[in-house]
Amino acid sequence: MSSTTRTDLPQILTALPGPRARAIVERDHAVMSPSYTRSYPFVIERGEGAIVTDVDGNRFLDMNAGIAVVATGHCHPRVVEAIRRQAEKFLHMSGTDFYYENMVALGEKLAALVPGGGPRRVFLGNSGAEAVECALKLARYAARRDKSIAFLGAFHGRTMGALSLTASKSAQREGFAPLFPGSCHIPYAYCYRCAYNRTPDTCNVECVKVLEQELFRTILPPSEVAAVFVEPVQGEGGYVVPPQKFFDELQAVCRRHGILLVADEVQSGMGRTGRMFASEHFGLEPDIIAIAKGIASGLPLGATVARAELMTWKPGAHASTFGGNPVAVEAALATIELLEQELIDNAARTGARMLERMREWPSRFRHVGDVRGLGLMIGFELVKDQATKERAPELRDRIVDLAFEKGILILGAGPNSIRLAPPLVLTADQADFAVETLEACIEEASRG
Ligand SMILES: Cc1ncc(COP(=O)(O)O)c(C=O)c1O
Repeated sequence: MSSTTRTDLPQILTALPGPRARAIVERDHAVMSPSYTRSYPFVIERGEGAIVTDVDGNRFLDMNAGIAVVATGHCHPRVVEAIRRQAEKFLHMSGTDFYYENMVALGEKLAALVPGGGPRRVFLGNSGAEAVECALKLARYAARRDKSIAFLGAFHGRTMGALSLTASKSAQREGFAPLFPGSCHIPYAYCYRCAYNRTPDTCNVECVKVLEQELFRTILPPSEVAAVFVEPVQGEGGYVVPPQKFFDELQAVCRRHGILLVADEVQSGMGRTGRMFASEHFGLEPDIIAIAKGIASGLPLGATVARAELMTWKPGAHASTFGGNPVAVEAALATIELLEQELIDNAARTGARMLERMREWPSRFRHVGDVRGLGLMIGFELVKDQATKERAPELRDRIVDLAFEKGILILGAGPNSIRLAPPLVLTADQADFAVETLEACIEEASRG
């Protein structure tokens, strides 16, 4: 157990889980869907900034932000105030059938923010999967083509259309076939584990070239491909950051064949990588962008932003009763203001601070194979042996558990990586504390 009087740092007072947490976990296991993937028994009571307190009074540093959602931290006063203000006026009206001003304001804001320039149109839903689902339907509708390309390791959500693009873990697909037809997957630019055994020096972007050199020639007529779906930084797959040339090549192939480029910025967007959208790091100009998670600091909201000439579908073609809920929209407007005023800069600065030290890990810890990231979207990969790169999933899980015991909430990503996606309000002290604690966890777990 650790103890500190600083309220901005963890303090563990009970054995974990404490008695109240244990009781809630037992009730949960008796009634809730067993499909949820909880790694450890953290039961939240309240949150403030990057600190969350459990039902037994233990304080944790949240290095995961509710899976990359609470961009402005837990309960940022300006977001809470925006929610309260809107809740006193009206909670719902349905933007599908009626008008309200803040929905338009958010549409205008998003249309102006997304990379690429030119007029945009915006559809508001409730989640990441819905944002992707909308993008998939829109791409088909606009292109009048029925095939899609996505990447191995990708996570795009769990509704049937989005799931057909997801290629992260087979457990997510098992038992649900047949999925939506027409999705084809190719290797992602996962340079640490290049599917073509290349190094950065010998890389000729084979993972994109395979499209024209193999697939388009053999099984996938490009004239039938509506869109390529890509995460600018692969999230669930392991926080994998591709090199610039991957995006250059991908964008060029799409343009050559009139294929729409859809950026899934559900996890990488809204300031997380130190830019509003991760696409901006690579000069990516997507035709359609899917956004969710961090957009409303915890309220459910998704957005699909498309070039205006693509989003010309007829009334009734796509809609959602709750999509663009006015309270969530107000939270999004407050979130975007905070991101623009200070938090994107903080993500860039604090992320760089963490990465500078973490990049030394492979030379300091024999079980850390790779460290990668942009802003406060940072991943590291655990291996049994740095030379063979054999994955070490048990070691990864042990580190996640040890971190919990020491008051740091982290989550795995991919088979053997750990992701850090803290609220963008993370302070330098909190970042240092997290890095030092994780170093202790890695050492302890490596001792066996
Ligand atoms: C890149 C990406 N796309 C889509 C989704 C699906 O979002 P949601 O869980 O809100 O449906 C996720 C969720 O993790 C994601 O990371």
